[in-house]
Amino acid sequence: MVYNRNLPFNDLPDLPPPGFTETPGMLRHLAKASRILGELNGLCSSLPDPQLLLNTIVLQESKNSSAIENIVTTQDELYKAATGEETASQAAKEVLNYREALYAGLKKMQAQKNLLLTSTMVEIVQTIKQNNAGIRNTPGTALKNAINGEVIYTPPCCEDILRMKLASLEHFMNDPDLTTPDPLIKMALIHYQFEAVHPFADGNGRTGRILNALYLVQQGLLVQPVLYISSYMENNKAEYYKLLRDVTETGNWNDWTMYILTAVIETTQQTTQKIRTMLSLKNEYEKKMQEVLGASFSYALLQLMFTLPYLKIELLEKKGLAHRQTASGWLKKLSDAGMLRPQKIGRTTYFINYRLMELLTGN
Ligand SMILES: Nc1ncnc2c1ncn2[C@@H]1O[C@H](COP(=O)(O)OP(=O)(O)OP(=O)(O)O)[C@@H](O)[C@H]1O
Ligand SMILES: [Mg+2]
Repeated sequence: MVYNRNLPFNDLPDLPPPGFTETPGMLRHLAKASRILGELNGLCSSLPDPQLLLNTIVLQESKNSSAIENIVTTQDELYKAATGEETASQAAKEVLNYREALYAGLKKMQAQKNLLLTSTMVEIVQTIKQNNAGIRNTPGTALKNAINGEVIYTPPCCEDILRMKLASLEHFMNDPDLTTPDPLIKMALIHYQFEAVHPFADGNGRTGRILNALYLVQQGLLVQPVLYISSYMENNKAEYYKLLRDVTETGNWNDWTMYILTAVIETTQQTTQKIRTMLSLKNEYEKKMQEVLGASFSYALLQLMFTLPYLKIELLEKKGLAHRQTASGWLKKLSDAGMLRPQKIGRTTYFINYRLMELLTGN
């Protein structure tokens, strides 16, 4: 049957794509991507406190991923939301939901023998959307051009067909015997396939991007899901959409795979650089803090400063770091020394680790 973008694409072929071959260009990109991803993984494994530092990066990256749907959220709101401020905007909450979804997916994967299953995908989308969304069981979902409303793609329909396609995708993702193509190339194929199946009414883009990050962990390429190629996709969105469409309409897997591998390379380089800079800033701050606080130096406080760049006295109390008076004394001394910058928002004074903020937002 001839492909028609106005009709549900129930003929979407399962993976691996019929006739797929790795081109020399792909293999060259693959070699580079694998090498630098290995370096990033080494760097992550050597972190004394991976959870804390990575948390900050994840928060930043979650923002990028949610941005594809034009969720405009300022960095300030994001971190305020993370410190539990009630004033957090809806946009900031959505970003936090994205982060929570990533961790929920990771937990589920680990609890299910490291498998990525349809149930993992459902768990992710439900956390993103904060509802009981399930596999689509009614027709009518179509991807449309936002400007003229023209249909770009109509995904398969409905629940039974979607479940069959997801079961086949699960098999491709989890079968250890399917060692070719290489996992990074498989990730490109999987991402297209998931988006083409488009199993949910909404949140498919975000769920697909989280699956990429989890897949790299599942395949042992990263110990933590620190790599989000989302910022690359956000910066190269028109191409991202066009290439997805080209795979469906003309079977152009080469350009799609090259795009994903380039995204991996660029994001890995940026993430590695960001971690290195954060680590050196943290070292610098550790020394300065020892000078400024002397005997009352607190390593826990340093850790917190690199987990949440917006601190407040109540938070230090809540985390059990110190009583009010000590906490307030610490923050004041660090502000006087220029390490933190106090800023009054509403009735609360925040102490901002502005150098970390600059580092995080300056990309
Ligand atoms: N032609 C296409 N074929 C298949 N999938 C597509 C195509 N164009 C876009 N997509 C995917 O659909 C996603 C949007 O779907 P949906 O609105 O369900 O996801 P979302 O997470 O809510 O949105 P967003 O990705 O914008 O944050 C895009 O991110 C992209 O991954
Ligand atoms: Mg959407």
